[in-house]
Amino acid sequence: MTETITPLTAFDDASLDEAFRALTDQVRSAASQLTTAEAQENFRLDWLGRKQGRLKLLSETWLKTAPPEAKKSLGMRFNTLKNEIEAALASEPASSKASSAPALDLSLPGIRRNIGVEHPLTRTMREMTAVFAALGYSVGIGPEVETDFYNFEALNFPPNHPARDTQDTLVVADQEGKPLRERLLMRTHTSPVQIRSMVSNPPPLRIVIPGKVHRNDESDATHSPIFHQVEGLCVDTNITFSDLKGTLDYAMKAFFGSSVKTRFFPSFFPFTEPSADVQISCPFCGQKGCRKCKFSGWIELLGCGMVDPAVFAAVDARRIENGLEPAYDTKKISGFAFGMGVERIAMMKYGVGDIGQFYSGDLRFLSQFV
Ligand code: PHE
Repeated sequence: MTETITPLTAFDDASLDEAFRALTDQVRSAASQLTTAEAQENFRLDWLGRKQGRLKLLSETWLKTAPPEAKKSLGMRFNTLKNEIEAALASEPASSKASSAPALDLSLPGIRRNIGVEHPLTRTMREMTAVFAALGYSVGIGPEVETDFYNFEALNFPPNHPARDTQDTLVVADQEGKPLRERLLMRTHTSPVQIRSMVSNPPPLRIVIPGKVHRNDESDATHSPIFHQVEGLCVDTNITFSDLKGTLDYAMKAFFGSSVKTRFFPSFFPFTEPSADVQISCPFCGQKGCRKCKFSGWIELLGCGMVDPAVFAAVDARRIENGLEPAYDTKKISGFAFGMGVERIAMMKYGVGDIGQFYSGDLRFLSQFV
């Protein structure tokens, strides 16, 4: 506004073109920065102010010195410049332009709102748990950092028993001073929750235990040092091996489909006697033979057995230590237990080739499970 106006020295068309191009550029660049009404008003005063406006000063100065034959051309150019300024003032400040609602283009494709999906492992555990919940089982949980007593001793793994080696236990460091049964470890199976449930509840007991377990395993396509199990325990009067077979046969049909058959093979677990491994007829190929059943028509899925009397004895001893009545008299009650690996089931059910995919957090993998 107060800047001095540079006089024009040449009035030929080329010089005028150049001078006005520079002015037009100034107007446009100033106009593009008008974000508020206040800035717009300052811009108006700067260029069009009646006394000190640039347009007025410029035209006075330049017209005065222009030769008569250039005056008309000069006047026309000032008019064009004025139009440019007025056009900039006629539009709204940029910010209010941006904040006013944009025009709706109904032909644009929609914006997908991604919602989360249940993780395939969570889903498998929930579905398996639900099968037993429908049979009257309640859900039991327990700590992942467990004592040797619950993870081993009460489950009839005596100290130095070779069966402990099969569990690849991760132990908590620096506990040498402690009695063995109190030493902490990462639970290697969900079975300690059987003991915890029986120590705090008298029979009858029906519980299903989904949870995370830890073993010092090397990771590969089918192993992970942290994985999941679903465990079950049923204790009541007159529970027999037939109840175990009937329950698991029903549960496998409920989970995999009614045409699935089960068969039982002798096995060994320290905490069940007798013990069995359960195979199901391949639900994926209907026993025609496929990669999932390794072309055998059968898939091994579960460990199970009748609760060993030594387990009930350990439970009652702990109940007495805790000031409770003993309640697991093997002359009156019996029970069965079973356990299965969730990853193995989920890998087969969903055709997952590498266990690591479950833990990768890769949305391209997870979003397939909608
Ligand atoms: N706890 C056993 C395992 O992890 C599985 C199992 C549970 C077997 C209950 C029998 C009964 O291998």
